[in-house]
Amino acid sequence: MKKLEIQGGRRLVGSIRISGAKNAALPALAATLLTSERVLLDHIPSVADLKTMEGLLRRLGAEIEVDGERRAIVTREIESPEAPYELVKTMRASSLVLGPLVARTGRARVSVPGGCAIGARPINLHLLGLAKLGATVRQEAGYIEAAAPDGLVGATVTFPRVTVTGTEDLMMAAVLAKGETVLENAAREPEVVDLAKLLNAMGARVEGAGESTIRIEGVDRLHGAEHRIIPDRIEAGTFLVAGALTGGDLTLEEVAPEHLEAVIAKLKQAGAEIEEVNPTTLRVRRSRRLNPVDITTEEHPGFPTDMQAQWMALMIAAEGASHVVETIFENRFMHVAELARMGADIELFGNRATIRGGRQLSGATVMASDLRASAGLVLAGLAAEGTTIIDRLYHLERGYERLEEKLAGVGAAVRRIG
Ligand code: EPU
Repeated sequence: MKKLEIQGGRRLVGSIRISGAKNAALPALAATLLTSERVLLDHIPSVADLKTMEGLLRRLGAEIEVDGERRAIVTREIESPEAPYELVKTMRASSLVLGPLVARTGRARVSVPGGCAIGARPINLHLLGLAKLGATVRQEAGYIEAAAPDGLVGATVTFPRVTVTGTEDLMMAAVLAKGETVLENAAREPEVVDLAKLLNAMGARVEGAGESTIRIEGVDRLHGAEHRIIPDRIEAGTFLVAGALTGGDLTLEEVAPEHLEAVIAKLKQAGAEIEEVNPTTLRVRRSRRLNPVDITTEEHPGFPTDMQAQWMALMIAAEGASHVVETIFENRFMHVAELARMGADIELFGNRATIRGGRQLSGATVMASDLRASAGLVLAGLAAEGTTIIDRLYHLERGYERLEEKLAGVGAAVRRIG
């Protein structure tokens, strides 16, 4: 199994180009199922999760031409509206095809996603929404079967809790429904806004994305469109932390600083200097010592759960105690035991971690458990003395494009082994 080896203790200096957002590209690919015409997507990052989604689309009947970061996708017909177990078990976001399939064909059969390293992650709210739009939804033999043979009908869906892919799935279901759909307590993430932009370019009528109430007026059909995916705010946030943690000087190009406000504010409190060089370029430096800063993960625009593990790696290097409260996923602390193997002093109590910082970590062999936990371990490895080996590199490859190349380009001693 592939591993990543890091020799810690180097300052990171230089420029990094940020890739397209994995979590915006996933729903955008699913949205191409809503039309028989050609959809051109640009700025698709080369990461494993997107290859999985492309594999699923092909299986459903899509033809995909790949040209660097561009994809030209045509799904003349849906051959069979089924997302099989083999694909859904490797990537839960496969459930994003549920809405588009029911909307386009009146039918979908999608494997029920199992548990995952960060929590139970059910998709009951996607199903609740589809049922509100008139689909009959039942579960049989590990599959969800949704049917609306006469088409979906607009309705008001109030999410009892905010769900990002649930909001996206329902938006895609509603664009071809009869009449108006109102999504209340919708997710406000930039990825939701990006999807709405693509859907509107395809002829949909979606209003209010980015706010808690989204209104969708159904249309009869959607057409082809061209769309460029937004920059990956979590990749950018991870490199901002890397710059701050190593006392480096990093310039991040092709970022959207407006998507990173909560992370930037916390980094500044922690003692990093962050400058918006121009509207798509950020520079991070640190010359002062790191201050302990508490965070609580929240839905956007709050501090993202996808930056929690990375924040912990930073706080280990800060003088004094800080607290991390995780409110989105019940089990997203798998990195804590691994960080402890490197010498971190972190106490866990329920969904709250207390980090007693100011410790010099020492390199060790650690195990990646999920994508963002792995990113936290990479950051800890960059700050540690000696060699860190991160096992199960495939977790990182799911969502970070050419991570070791980007890090090596700014002076990190990192290489792939095994
Ligand atoms: N939830 C339910 N029922 C549902 C849906 C969600 O109870 O039907 C719960 C979840 O279990 C969780 C909370 O609601 O406790 C929020 O989950 P959400 O649905 O918002 O998460 P998601 O849509 O499955 C997306 C990202 C995640 C990111 C979360 C939170 C994609 C493809 N994935 O997941 O990204 O952590 O939103 O921001 O967009 C990652 O990139 O590493 C990643 C895990």
